[in-house]
Order: sequence, then structure tokens, then C-alpha cells
Amino acid sequence: ISELAARKALPLPPLLEDLNPDPNQAEFHLTAQKGKLEILDGVESHTLGYNGNYLGPVLRVREGEKVKVKMKNDLDEATTLHLHGLRVDGEMDGGPHSGIKPGERWEPEFTINQPAATLWYHPHMMEKTAKQVYEGLAGLIYIEDENSDQLAIPKEYGVNDFPIIIQDRQLDASGSMEYDPGMNDVMMGLYGDTYLVNGAIKPYLEVPKGIVRLRLLNGSNGRTYHFELSNRSEFYQIASDGGLLEEPVEMTTLRQSPAERAEVLVDFSKFKTGDTVSLVDVSTDAKIELMEFVVTNKESGVNEIPTQLAKISHYDPNNAVKTRQFVMSGVGATLTINDKTMDMTRIDEEVKWNDTEIWEVTNQRTGIKGGMAHPFHLHGVQFQVIDRDGEKPPENETGWKDTILIQPGETVRIITSFKNKGIFMYHCHILEHEDAGMMGQYEVK
Ligand code: C2O
Ligand code: CU
Repeated sequence: ISELAARKALPLPPLLEDLNPDPNQAEFHLTAQKGKLEILDGVESHTLGYNGNYLGPVLRVREGEKVKVKMKNDLDEATTLHLHGLRVDGEMDGGPHSGIKPGERWEPEFTINQPAATLWYHPHMMEKTAKQVYEGLAGLIYIEDENSDQLAIPKEYGVNDFPIIIQDRQLDASGSMEYDPGMNDVMMGLYGDTYLVNGAIKPYLEVPKGIVRLRLLNGSNGRTYHFELSNRSEFYQIASDGGLLEEPVEMTTLRQSPAERAEVLVDFSKFKTGDTVSLVDVSTDAKIELMEFVVTNKESGVNEIPTQLAKISHYDPNNAVKTRQFVMSGVGATLTINDKTMDMTRIDEEVKWNDTEIWEVTNQRTGIKGGMAHPFHLHGVQFQVIDRDGEKPPENETGWKDTILIQPGETVRIITSFKNKGIFMYHCHILEHEDAGMMGQYEVK
């Protein structure tokens, strides 16, 4: 039996129905629930999902829209609904203070106040985030705006515009997945030996000829990927975490750490019907095939890579009223920021509303191997990267970001204005590190 025969088609999360008929308002219903997933044929794993068995639907909203989410918790344990990358007040952010008890509901309301982007949602309970995300609780949020409406880029969901959520998982001897991290997983972040794309192993995706848009989310707990196409052909990154870049960035390798998003355009016009090419991870010597694209005889309808994408107004570091320093450090299983581990009752940083600040984040080189990289994530804002060790960031990091990978020994300076009030988290997005306390709180007032 050929391997291809056993392949599954890439599962596509449904677009969640907006229950409010008013075009300027949206209402979405989500239920966190228990599910079952056959990762290997015939072997069921106990999983979690939103409105389904694993992962969750895509919430599509527009800039300016008033959104209400009715979230119900049908799990046996408390959870939260964190809106990762969304610029909302602390009360709507779904961080660890917004726990929803089993059987209860949480109904945040907010207005979308940011440009077109691919964001995501996932739980954020203290010490439970890694387990609940690992078991399947994660989904995407698409924001559209007038600019994205007008751009000649693929935007037909499931036709030429595809969500791609990559996660690695560890299967046990029976072939089912269970979250059971050892000490090393806590120290290094959990790395699995089985790679899922939208919940399936090495799925295939039929793509039209022409240009196709992939919205990539690294939804893994610990692993950082280096994505390539198996034929090493180029692709174009058009968006980073918080929105479209100013111009497409041509690349052959994309590094993506946990929680980062990238929208890329791939040109399949040179392929013949039936040709295949794979998405691979080259972060280790073993090139890992993650999924396969099968080119069909359909046309994507988009045949050119645009030259301009979005206007981004860049912060001027001279306008920052304050610079704060953060030192991320991992010594064994002790994972700290500024020598502290997370304490829900302690506000670590007080920020004045509307201030522009520089946050200087250093990854302290530790241990015999010189430490490891940590993806630093900040709630409630999108920021810009000023520099990495004093050098300009790479082109694909010159737009809006909410998560930034910091290498051992490196210092990255980011800048943003704090326009939403309330209590927010900043933390390492390696979920085992977050749960071990590599997190702090800031309050904007
Ligand atoms: Cu993706 Cu604090 O979260
Ligand atoms: Cu970390």
C-alpha cells in the first residue's frame, strides 16, 4: 500500500457562523469541549476542541466591528479564552484572571481596533495552558479591513487561502497522545515526534495553479520550525503576527517560533497538474515532511505577487518616554523573567495609558550548552522591533509583532504604545516555560 493512499486531506477548520445579521456587529458561540481524535488510524486519543473534537473554527471579523463572543466551558476543569494578538482591554483579553469554571460561560465584548491580520485564540489558565493547548484548544482569528479588501491577494477561504496550524505531538506506545511532560520537557519545552497540520499527520492539500495564500501558525508547545518548500523554491511573506507587511518579503526559509504567525504567498503557476511539492521543516538535519501540496488544473485567480501591501506608521524611539529591561533566564527548571516567577497577586510593571515605551528584552546565556531561545510574547498590544543586538531586524520582522524569538545572549528592543487599559501578561510562549512561571504582569492605567 502506497503511503499516499493513506494520506488524509488537510482538515479545514470551519469558518464560524456570525450570528448577528448587522454587518457592523458579530456574535460568535464557542464551546470548549472534550473530544476524540484518530491521529493514527484506529487509535483514539482523548482531545479537546472548540465546537468539535480538536482545534476550533476560524472567527472572521472586520476592523471597526463590534464583536461579542459567547464562550461556554464544557470541560471538567476551568479554562480561559485568550485572544492572542488582539488589542482589547485586560478584562476582555482572557488571561489567567478570566477563568471560566466547568459548566459556566464567559462573554467578552469588544471592538476590533487593528488592521487585517491572522491572530489566534487559546486557553491561558495558570499552569494549565500547555496541557489544554496540547490537547487541542486553539483556533484562528482573521481580521479583514478596507486595505485587505482591495489588495489583489488570495482571500477565498479553503479555495486559495488556507489556514495551516502546525503542531508536534508525542504519541505513546499505543499510538495515542497524552500530555505527560517530563523534567526535560519542562526545561526545554515539549518536543514531539509526530507532526500534525490542522490535526492530521502529513496531510495533502489540493491547490490551484497560480498564487495561493497560506496562513501559518506555529501552534506547538515548544518547537521552533524552519519551514521550506521541498524544491527549495521561494515564497513571499506578506504578513507577520499583527498584520500585513509593507511589501512582500521573498524568502526560501521561514523561521517560526511558538505562537508566531506568518502569511505567505506561494506561486504554483509553474507546476503541471498533478505535480506535488511539500512543506518541510529543516530545523534539524532530518528534513521533516509536514504536508504535501498537490497542484490541480484549477486556477487560483491571482497571478501576481503584489508590490505594496500596507502602510505602517513606524514608532520613533525618540518618542518613547521609558525603557524597561527584561531578562529571561532558564537555569534547569527554574525559568524566570527579571529573576521572578509568575505571581498572580503581583503586578510587575505599571504602565501609563497611551505612553510609548521601549522594552529591552535579553535572553541570558545560561548553562553548559549556552541556553536556548525563548519567544517573548506581550498581551494587549502589537509592537515593532527596533533592533536585535543593535542591528536592524530582518525584513519580515519590520511589521506588527506580538511574539518575538530571542536567541541565547541576544537583546531585542521592541517599541509600542499602550492604548488598552487593564492587567496583561508578558511571557515566554514555550508553554512549558509559561506554566513554570516564565511570565509577569503589567497593568496599564
Ligand atoms: Cu498566546 Cu499569553 O499567549
Ligand atoms: Cu522559554
